[in-house]
Amino acid sequence: MKRAGWLATAVVLATAVAMAMSMKQSSDPAWDHQEKSYHVQFRPAVVERGSGEAAVFFSPDNSTSFLTELVESADKSIDVGTPGFSSWIGCTYGGGCTVEEQRMNETFPIFAALVNALSAGKSVRILTNDFGATPPAAGRIDPLTFLYLAGAEIRYYTSTTFWHAKYISVDARTPDAATAFSSINFSETSFRKNREAGIRLSGEGVREVLDVAADVFDADWDVALQFSPAHEYTPAELAVIRSKAALRVVVPPPEPFPGSYVATTKTVALDEARVELVMSPDYTYETLKAALDAARNTFVLYIYQVTDYDLCEWLGDFVERDETELYLLVSDAIFAYDDYELARGCYRFLTKRGARVQTTRRHLYSFSHQKYWVVDNTTAWMSSGNWSPSDWPQYSGETLVPYNSSHGTWIQANRDFTLGITDAAVVDAFLDVFDGDYWIGQQWVDDAGP
Ligand SMILES: *[C@@H]1O[C@H](CO)[C@@H](O)[C@H](O)[C@H]1NC(C)=O
Ligand SMILES: *[C@@H]1O[C@H](CO)[C@@H](O)[C@H](O)[C@H]1NC(C)=O
Ligand SMILES: *[C@@H]1O[C@H](CO)[C@@H](O)[C@H](O)[C@H]1NC(C)=O
Ligand SMILES: *[C@@H]1O[C@H](CO)[C@@H](O)[C@H](O)[C@H]1NC(C)=O
Ligand SMILES: *[C@@H]1O[C@H](CO)[C@@H](O)[C@H](O)[C@H]1NC(C)=O
Repeated sequence: MKRAGWLATAVVLATAVAMAMSMKQSSDPAWDHQEKSYHVQFRPAVVERGSGEAAVFFSPDNSTSFLTELVESADKSIDVGTPGFSSWIGCTYGGGCTVEEQRMNETFPIFAALVNALSAGKSVRILTNDFGATPPAAGRIDPLTFLYLAGAEIRYYTSTTFWHAKYISVDARTPDAATAFSSINFSETSFRKNREAGIRLSGEGVREVLDVAADVFDADWDVALQFSPAHEYTPAELAVIRSKAALRVVVPPPEPFPGSYVATTKTVALDEARVELVMSPDYTYETLKAALDAARNTFVLYIYQVTDYDLCEWLGDFVERDETELYLLVSDAIFAYDDYELARGCYRFLTKRGARVQTTRRHLYSFSHQKYWVVDNTTAWMSSGNWSPSDWPQYSGETLVPYNSSHGTWIQANRDFTLGITDAAVVDAFLDVFDGDYWIGQQWVDDAGP
């Protein structure tokens, strides 16, 4: 009945989109990188009374400085898991840049920090998706090829559909390990023009959780495809790439966004905090849904978009329960048209059920791409995943088959990390930014009739 209500709203609104989506499933989408059957294996990692440190950081205000500093703090190793790796001066697409230009003029400071780490003999591993993007033209280069030739190990994710997590771990599996989980893609927009959120977690008391994240990275790494450069480079070019001269790491000041709420990074000492890490697609839906179902009074959700039927219905049910309050803030702008139509169906449904759907201030950021929620003012959850079927996939059995399999039906299943922390100061850090952004936003209105 409720499902029918949702569908009626969404389908009547967007029949064309529904048709386009079902057509899409009749061929393997370009972003599907799964090569073999994937066996669901990572149970959520939980520390009941963890001590350590959690730093809560945000784009566009401070993530560039914060994550660059994290990479520079590595003693031995840096592991990066990122959907893509885009030059900030356009060397990734459109044919690439000269080797000199890539080395000297790249403005993405994490690129320079990684080059310096390699020349200092540190280990760098980068796991990313193969976008099937055209490689640089002959004699030209992009950041990934440059880093590879400078000594980084680079592989393409193949475990499930898409690596959607944003992960940087320095000195993994040592007492000094520090790991950042966030929604921040390696692109200038994500660091400097979007709202994004992340947590850096460290300390022996949460090592168990960091080690499980490292297990996931290593398991994906083991089945990933080796990157290889599209061209050969001359000895003179290789000498530039492998020069041991340190690069200057320049963190540009944050862009001003007049009228915005400026978020600061909050570093919190965790004391007996419950910390839980969920690794999509493994056991995600049941775990996170159970945590939602435990909500009693208030639910705060600040997310890019809601495009999952069941989760949208959950929000609608929560609104209708007695003595509950829902605060929902979503992105003013959505990148993909299909997603925009699905989200619109959800917001229309929620509005009809009495929810206030608030969108972030119009034309302030490129996108409000953060994903976090706070349950009953006690637990903050932060994710790289949206409330979408590909980030919270529902499946039966424990084997996810690749697209062409005759042994089952392929589903879209992204790799994401979702971190839950039960700690008052961490909750405060997220709620501060929620409040700051909520009150300068505006109520969602359905902007076009069917
Ligand atoms: C796998 O799927 C592709 C289309 O996505 C198709 O071209 C190919 O023939 C399929 N291979 C097998 C073995 O079914
Ligand atoms: C992340 O960045 C890459 C390019 O660097 C882009 O292709 C991709 O769509 C971006 N977003 C996500 C969610 O992966
Ligand atoms: C780097 O940028 C500067 C200023 O835009 C330009 O003059 C210089 O030619 C560039 N260097 C390379 C190697 O492209
Ligand atoms: C930004 O991050 C840096 C760490 O890189 C930190 O030292 C600084 O205090 C942060 N600034 C703000 C305003 O949060
Ligand atoms: C949330 O909890 C903090 C203490 O952790 C308290 O100061 C604040 O008033 C609470 N907010 C609400 C809305 O209950």
